Amino acid sequence: MNLLVTGGSGFIGSNFIRYLLTETDFNGQIINVDCLTYAGNPENLSDIEARFSDRYVFVKADIAHQEEMAKIFDYYSIDAVCHFAAESHVDRSIAAPDAFIHTNIFGTYTLLELARKRMHHIKRFHHISTDEVYGSLGKNGYFSETSPYQPTSPYSASKAASDHLVRAYFYTYGLPVTLSNCSNNYGPYQFPEKLIPLMILNALAGKPLPVYGDGRNIRDWLYVRDHSAALWTILENGEIGETYNIGGNCEIENIRLVEQICGIIDNHPSLGFDTSRKDLITFVTDRPGHDRRYAIDATKIMADLNWAPKTPIEKGLRETIDWYIENQEWIDRVISGEYRNWIEQHYHF
Ligand code: NAD
Ligand code: DAU
Repeated sequence: MNLLVTGGSGFIGSNFIRYLLTETDFNGQIINVDCLTYAGNPENLSDIEARFSDRYVFVKADIAHQEEMAKIFDYYSIDAVCHFAAESHVDRSIAAPDAFIHTNIFGTYTLLELARKRMHHIKRFHHISTDEVYGSLGKNGYFSETSPYQPTSPYSASKAASDHLVRAYFYTYGLPVTLSNCSNNYGPYQFPEKLIPLMILNALAGKPLPVYGDGRNIRDWLYVRDHSAALWTILENGEIGETYNIGGNCEIENIRLVEQICGIIDNHPSLGFDTSRKDLITFVTDRPGHDRRYAIDATKIMADLNWAPKTPIEKGLRETIDWYIENQEWIDRVISGEYRNWIEQHYHF
């Protein structure tokens, strides 16, 4: 199998490639296409590139560039696609939606068209999406695969548009697609603009921990390795035309999660802070249109494909915190990029 992975230099994509090559019986070739936005860091996979030089190749390209992508599909004789590439940060989509429309909608459309024109060859097109397409929940209830779409941010609206296009290519042209909508991921290599890595880095540096609004918004947290396992299961056994919701069965209010991170850092054996990191928690202006609660009903993937999340949040958080403590060089390099300019403006770093 020649598997095109888009966005493989980002957080989930790089974890997925690492998982596929080191922990599964996948024996094909991976072609990672990424245009390296601020969030793409090919160093995430430098060891994999060296170790699997015959089965892993990185190509820098924009998924929305039709001619370049056509060359890649043909040169590497692509027969399956796992599509991660996206602009992924809600706050950035509120500040500047353009790139979200370009990559998430036009980029996805470009890939679908290229796949459609090579339909005799393409065995599967898997689209990675988000639970945010379903909008916000009240106190009760869960998102299922049949929940209506009610996106509220430019990010979630662009992902919703891409989901609709992927399904349209299945119904209209018979493109062999599968989709997955998952909850908030966390783990190693996550760009430190997202809640968990931002809080870890700020806590370690003794900087304020900015909690939006009243801090009582709820997210369902999924360890990225568990997500990778779910995606591999879908690629192998997911039914064509189907959508699978993937969740961590782990709903937590933001403020409780931040307190939990502080607690782990306060008691970490290799750190010796005099004061509790909880003293750094600072409530700041809320995100516009901030969705209150997300929660996934993952019954379908659990029943049909025998997948379940395995990592309890305490264990996942400890591993993630340790990874950031042990990878200061990675953090320094990430922070020295465009990240710093943007973060300085928006998070008062
Ligand atoms: P990320 O921002 O860490 O990585 C995105 C990657 O896509 C980067 O490497 C970036 O360079 C690349 N990219 C962006 N635009 C591109 C373009 N035009 N052409 C080629 N490459 C491009 O994102 P992530 O958190 O790893 O998310 C991956 C996917 O999973 C996205 O589709 C996102 O919507 C979805 N998702 C993420 C989460 C989460 O919690 N992070 C949850 C649900 C779904
Ligand atoms: O639900 C899946 C989605 O999860 C993915 O589709 C997105 O790509 C991913 O970024 C994530 O979106 P969120 O907006 O939920 O993630 P974020 O880490 O930005 O925020 C998580 C929660 O924490 C949210 O309620 C906002 C809040 N928050 C976030 C930041 C960055 C804060 O309170 N303070 C912060 O500084």
